Amino acid sequence: MIRSPRGTNDILPDEIAKWQYLEKAIRKVTTNYGYKEIRTPIFESTEVFSRSIGDTSDIVNKEMYTFQDRGDNSLTLRPEMTAALVRACIQNGLANRGELERLWYYGPFFRYERPQKGRFRQFHQFGAECLSSSNPESDAEVIMLAVSLIEDLGIEEYTLNINSLGNDKSRENFRRALVEYFSEYESELSEDSQRRLKENPLRILDSKDPKDKELAKKAPKIIDSLDPVSKEYFDSVLEILDYSGVSYKVSSALVRGLDYYSHTVFEFQSNALGAQDSFGGGGRYDGLFQQLGGKPTPAVGFAFGVERLLLIIESIINKNEIQDSVDYYIISGNEKYIKKSLQLAKTLRKKNYQTLTDIQQKSFKSQMKDANKRNASNVIIIAEQEMENNNILLKDMKTGEQQEVGFDEFITGLG
Ligand code: HAM
Repeated sequence: MIRSPRGTNDILPDEIAKWQYLEKAIRKVTTNYGYKEIRTPIFESTEVFSRSIGDTSDIVNKEMYTFQDRGDNSLTLRPEMTAALVRACIQNGLANRGELERLWYYGPFFRYERPQKGRFRQFHQFGAECLSSSNPESDAEVIMLAVSLIEDLGIEEYTLNINSLGNDKSRENFRRALVEYFSEYESELSEDSQRRLKENPLRILDSKDPKDKELAKKAPKIIDSLDPVSKEYFDSVLEILDYSGVSYKVSSALVRGLDYYSHTVFEFQSNALGAQDSFGGGGRYDGLFQQLGGKPTPAVGFAFGVERLLLIIESIINKNEIQDSVDYYIISGNEKYIKKSLQLAKTLRKKNYQTLTDIQQKSFKSQMKDANKRNASNVIIIAEQEMENNNILLKDMKTGEQQEVGFDEFITGLG
């Protein structure tokens, strides 16, 4: 048997209802916030990601699906959307003259990670990005959008961790403080982090190595390196969140694993997930447009991991809300009525009723069983005796009430 590649999932028909339930909630919240959808290719030139996420990040270093195509171009299956979205905006002149762009996206992403609960090699993200605003109101708006989705999905137990990486000057101060601190313990650091110390000391803070983690606990905090402008910016974001009733926890150790961030960074965390407890994250990335060859364009956004959101809502979702159901199930009491059933089904579907009918010449009993299994609201029985008077039997599956109605009257009654 040929199996799907490790870390990928088939989303089977029985599971699709919950995906569609989530997708509907996403469409609702993005519409309510006035965000527009953008779709870009699944693969990009490798430099889109290597120039933005950072050469020293785990994603670029270890996790990208990169390959040469037959024309010898280096391509990469997108590990995330922000860099690809910025590439698309620069290429297509979006947000080019400083106009505000509110965008969202949904789709598959690829990272070569060790698969475990909530961590896959092909996974899905829903994200939103607000381009061309350098005001704290836009940081607050994208966070509120994310929180609205969480609330709409009925998720109550989660933490929004937030921090600021400040402007370039603040990060330079921080970098110096980190180098000073970690240099003392250089020989105790993992091999990766010894390299990080030279190339990008900030990355040591999101190392997964237990010893690095221990040393990172006592490392300087970015918040102490923020210059007054950055501090004021961060306070303004928090003030708006307070005013809007959004709860958060200032988490001074949060740095995020991608290099393009400045100022606000945030992550959503849930205890329902186990080791991979972060189900969404984002932040401000004011330098990314320039890094990818565009005009300076301030921007902020976030992405949720769809599989992780689904894991959280699985236990709280109202099963009735996501159960598949049909309006009518037509049972032919006799093989000779199958054609009539199909014709009636076509009429009902044209009137926008979800309708099923037997196409396997099953027995009456099996058709009735199937109607129950498919959650039919109504069953129409086309049977010999009633057909003699051109009548059908109509059964309301909720009340169990059954009545004989004229076939033609029934059709006319549908409007
Ligand atoms: P990220 O934190 O790398 O950020 O990913 C966002 C979310 O995607 C994570 O919180 C997690 O839920 C999900 N995720 C990541 N990797 C996997 C995986 N291997 N399996 C399952 N789920 C995963 C970004 O990607 C940024 N582009 C977010 C952003 C948007 N920043 C600004 N705008």
